[in-house]
Amino acid sequence: MSLKITVIGTGYLGATHAAAMAELGFEVLGLDVVPEKIEMLSAGKVPMYEPGLEELLAQHVAGIEGSSGRLRFTTSWEEVGAFGDVHFVCVNTPQKHGEYACDMSYVDAAFGSLAPVVREGSLVVGKSTVPVGSADRLAELLPEGAELAWNPEFLREGFAVQDTLHPDRLVVGVRSERAEKILREVYATPIGEGSPFVVTDFPTAELVKTSANSFLATKISFINAMAEVCEAAGGDVVKLAEAIGYDDRIGKKFLRAGIGFGGGCLPKDIRAFMARAGELGADQALTFLREVDSINMRRRGHMVELAREAVGGDSFLGKRVAVLGATFKPDSDDVRDSPALNVAGQIHLQGGQVTVYDPKGMDNARRLFPTLGYADTALGAVRGADVVLHLTEWREFRELDPAALGAVTAERVILDGRNALDPVLWREAGWTYRAMGRPAA
Ligand code: UGA
Repeated sequence: MSLKITVIGTGYLGATHAAAMAELGFEVLGLDVVPEKIEMLSAGKVPMYEPGLEELLAQHVAGIEGSSGRLRFTTSWEEVGAFGDVHFVCVNTPQKHGEYACDMSYVDAAFGSLAPVVREGSLVVGKSTVPVGSADRLAELLPEGAELAWNPEFLREGFAVQDTLHPDRLVVGVRSERAEKILREVYATPIGEGSPFVVTDFPTAELVKTSANSFLATKISFINAMAEVCEAAGGDVVKLAEAIGYDDRIGKKFLRAGIGFGGGCLPKDIRAFMARAGELGADQALTFLREVDSINMRRRGHMVELAREAVGGDSFLGKRVAVLGATFKPDSDDVRDSPALNVAGQIHLQGGQVTVYDPKGMDNARRLFPTLGYADTALGAVRGADVVLHLTEWREFRELDPAALGAVTAERVILDGRNALDPVLWREAGWTYRAMGRPAA
């Protein structure tokens, strides 16, 4: 008989994982402690914006016409315990307030609720990003007869469905052949399609996740450091990235210079990694991540300075600043630690009149930064602006007509914080175009 799967926590990771498991043919029960989320999901609605996810849910949520009926949601731990052969724990692990370490309270609470209800023989699979050593500790919380495995997730927001159904690798930390066998069964379809399946111990599985994100963060900060040098030396970081990217040992991905990385993962993961290394007495090994973090945070300040220069150099008082983009990256509505909103907020706090527009992130941005100005369209945001800041590289912004925008702004000055617009197009329409790490004209 086919395995029955539960997914605990229905955020970006859990909601996607639950829908993907149903798509792979399993009966799935998702749990969240927030009843509103469960209501929405049960009606086939996704509580956040993730391309393709709502369509996938609609194909599987029980009660929706024409669906497979394999996916249901609940708030009941008893139901989850009775139902599941395999329980995936997908709750989030944010940064603790006031320190670098990650906040394990949601993971601990999930294990605390799950442990008393799991059936004999069930497998609990941790997916949350946790400090190395957590799995060893959490395994102790499960009753005898239930087992733990650690299976980190590498999905990117904006590509979550694709990344979950067709992962570029699967990594499982296990303590028994039985656990490995169960996970091979769960992932039989992607394994059959050729996804590499890496079997390892708990600490390595946990470390794979944090080291992958640290590497990505380092790559972005590397190119942003090159952008700083390019600015000082009159070079062009976009050309530089293209040229070094042809070396396939380097590769061209994640070499886009700009206002840097944000989101719910990279920033907090490198900090939690440093904190954990410190506890283990290995802090020296990761001191470079401090530099990666500070290069990254410096980009935001630098964007604010470029904007200040663009409006005359002294202050933002009385100046109108249009901000295109609020989310931490395109194709997401996520504004957690968003560089775009951070820049908008800094300028606002310094007296600028900031108006923000984002295709999907408006509600979340408003909640986080209610005092900023918001417009319903890009055109509305730039009306009367002394400077336009392009801070999240949505396709919609690349398709804007520079002439139409220029007709309503006070000044034709645009700063490209993502190196994603075509400078020639904007300059031809009479704009002063400036980008990070590139020559002024
Ligand atoms: C990241 C990882 O890419 C995923 O593999 C991982 O599973 C996920 O974190 C996680 O830990 O859950 P995500 O946060 O969705 O995924 O976003 P990324 O695509 O990695 O982008 C992160 C940030 O880096 C964004 O703010 C983006 O604008 C910025 N970035 C990315 C750059 O500034 N330059 C680049 O060249 C690439």
